[in-house]
Amino acid sequence: MIPIRIVQVPSMLLIFLALLIGALVSSTSAKIPSICNLVCKSSINGTETFAFCESLSELTMTGRCCLNRTESQTLVVGIDLQGCGITEETFSDALVNMSSLLYISLEGNKFKGLSTTDFHSNTGIEFLSLPSKFSCPGSKGTWLNQSSDANSTYCFSEQNACDVRNVTCPSNSHCVHSGVDLVQCLCDEGFHGYKCLEQGTFPLTSFLASIILPTIALCILFFVTQRRYVIQQSSKVD
Ligand SMILES: *[C@@H]1O[C@H](CO)[C@@H](O)[C@H](O)[C@H]1NC(C)=O
Ligand SMILES: *[C@@H]1O[C@H](CO)[C@@H](O)[C@H](O)[C@H]1NC(C)=O
Ligand SMILES: *[C@@H]1O[C@H](CO)[C@@H](O)[C@H](O)[C@H]1NC(C)=O
Ligand SMILES: *[C@@H]1O[C@H](CO)[C@@H](O)[C@H](O)[C@H]1NC(C)=O
Ligand SMILES: *[C@@H]1O[C@H](CO)[C@@H](O)[C@H](O)[C@H]1NC(C)=O
Ligand SMILES: *[C@@H]1O[C@H](CO)[C@@H](O)[C@H](O)[C@H]1NC(C)=O
Repeated sequence: MIPIRIVQVPSMLLIFLALLIGALVSSTSAKIPSICNLVCKSSINGTETFAFCESLSELTMTGRCCLNRTESQTLVVGIDLQGCGITEETFSDALVNMSSLLYISLEGNKFKGLSTTDFHSNTGIEFLSLPSKFSCPGSKGTWLNQSSDANSTYCFSEQNACDVRNVTCPSNSHCVHSGVDLVQCLCDEGFHGYKCLEQGTFPLTSFLASIILPTIALCILFFVTQRRYVIQQSSKVD
């Protein structure tokens, strides 16, 4: 009986560990969004995004995207989709997980319209270029300044929407710039719940402890039981 269990417990543990390590590696390793690999009519060379990306040593151009790679994550800081023939839905879907964009170019696409929400949670856009028939998204003051030429509308330096809209949040909450011309009122520290009326922080630590502690206990249990079998086995060999 015992030899069979010696094989079974470690192999289950090994599979568990392999899955755990696999999940950790795949979550930290750089996954480049598929939109970066689009093949588009106009060359990326010489574009504003390209020039910006070349100007800073920490940035690298990959396809249509300018990436900021660190050990822990890969952020898309620029995206040039000129002449890519995409719709605004494709663009909007691609931006769901991007919130660090500084440079965006969108001329030469099948856009019917664009709304502020298509830019999701990007709050630091420095340069946005659109087809010339489009105006800059948002309200007056959303951008520091704008200009246009025969083919493009340019929007420079997204402004904090809390300031632009002079937002006053309800008591126990404060305004947070959450996207192009978008704001949110978030509860102040020490408040939570409906209309931030409940006092005291959400019991996050005890919530996490109730998940993490049993996991650690299980790991120790597996470790101890596994080791006992190994000791038994080696004493048998002796
Ligand atoms: C773009 O620039 C690179 C070098 O920066 C060059 O090797 C490549 O041929 C250029 N491509 C086009 C289409 O101009
Ligand atoms: C790149 O990422 C690093 C680390 O997060 C950050 O300090 C730096 O400002 C980023 N650079 C740009 C241009 O976003
Ligand atoms: C965004 O991230 C979530 C969770 O990491 C992932 O499931 C989803 O596929 C991502 N969406 C895009 C468009 O990359
Ligand atoms: C808009 O502001 C940017 C950044 O401050 C500046 O480089 C650009 O020349 C300005 N453009 C116009 C038309 O004022
Ligand atoms: C506008 O686009 C046309 C055709 O691509 C190009 O020849 C022209 O130089 C562009 N004008 C500007 C101001 O970029
Ligand atoms: C912002 O709102 C406050 C209160 O509603 C008002 O007193 C103040 O004049 C406003 N400021 C601007 C710049 O509109």
